[in-house]
Amino acid sequence: MKIGILGLGKMGEALVMGIRHSAETISWKLTATTRSKESAKKGGIALGIPVHSDNARLTTESDVIILCVKPSQTESVLREISPLLTKKKLLISVAASITTEEMEEWITHRCPVIRSMPNTPAIIREGMTVLSSGSDATDAHLKLAEKIFRLVGQTAIIEEKLMDGATGLSGCGPAYGYLIIEALSEAGVKVGLPRDKSILLAAQTLLGAAKMVIERGVHPAALKDEVTTPAGCTIDGLMALEEGRLRVTLIKAVLAATAKSEKLRAER
Ligand SMILES: NC(=O)c1ccc[n+]([C@@H]2O[C@H](COP(=O)([O-])OP(=O)(O)OC[C@H]3O[C@@H](n4cnc5c(N)ncnc54)[C@H](OP(=O)(O)O)[C@@H]3O)[C@@H](O)[C@H]2O)c1
Repeated sequence: MKIGILGLGKMGEALVMGIRHSAETISWKLTATTRSKESAKKGGIALGIPVHSDNARLTTESDVIILCVKPSQTESVLREISPLLTKKKLLISVAASITTEEMEEWITHRCPVIRSMPNTPAIIREGMTVLSSGSDATDAHLKLAEKIFRLVGQTAIIEEKLMDGATGLSGCGPAYGYLIIEALSEAGVKVGLPRDKSILLAAQTLLGAAKMVIERGVHPAALKDEVTTPAGCTIDGLMALEEGRLRVTLIKAVLAATAKSEKLRAER
């Protein structure tokens, strides 16, 4: 299978690294494009794949085209490659806020379309990507998109109307996680731990908690109860978090980011 990454920026690079690391995809051929010849040269050297600036050639030569340009660049790029798309190809976009309906209009339904929303931990293959299919995409197309994005983390298929919510949760979520790790490490410093050890304690603790939820498949509330010994230390810590309204604050953070994502789409 030939995969073309159209727009080898941060997200495009993350995908290339994930795909390259998988033995399963050893026969997949990767090519990418950038806008400038300079970026193409740099990207090609850094990633060891052919990178050029000819989107028409990339489209013609690829079975799957993963569009990784900025949302504002999406329409012009899609109109440019539209005549070269066919029903036998698959177009996957990672552009925030661009709907499958808009993409189908720009490419005049020449090819099936899937919309995705990955997040930055895809760089270390611990990303979370949500996917929605356009009107011409089949289950087989969706399965292929899942296969590709599973190389950089976990995937979930959602209804497209929930994309703004997913943006507010998993798209923006790494930043919430970093803030929580930073705050916990400040606490570590306050109780006398050296800063480097404090950051490690905080980050590894959240990583372990997240893995417990995913790998054991147990509800987080049940896992929290497991840690909370009657009259122990944890319940005092939890009480302080409830007093500080951590839960409702996190819920509000996701709602605010979701509302902003909706607003940005409406303003385009
Ligand atoms: N970064 C994230 O956290 C994240 C998360 C989820 C989704 N996304 C989505 O991912 C997309 C890319 O984001 P990014 O952060 O990777 O952006 P980025 O680092 O700025 O990369 C954009 C890339 O597109 C290339 N490009 C621009 N116009 C082009 C054209 N006409 N033909 C070929 N290549 C072109 C640029 O090439 P030059 O270098 O030559 O300009 C650059 O390599 C966005 O739509 C964003 O919504 C990003």
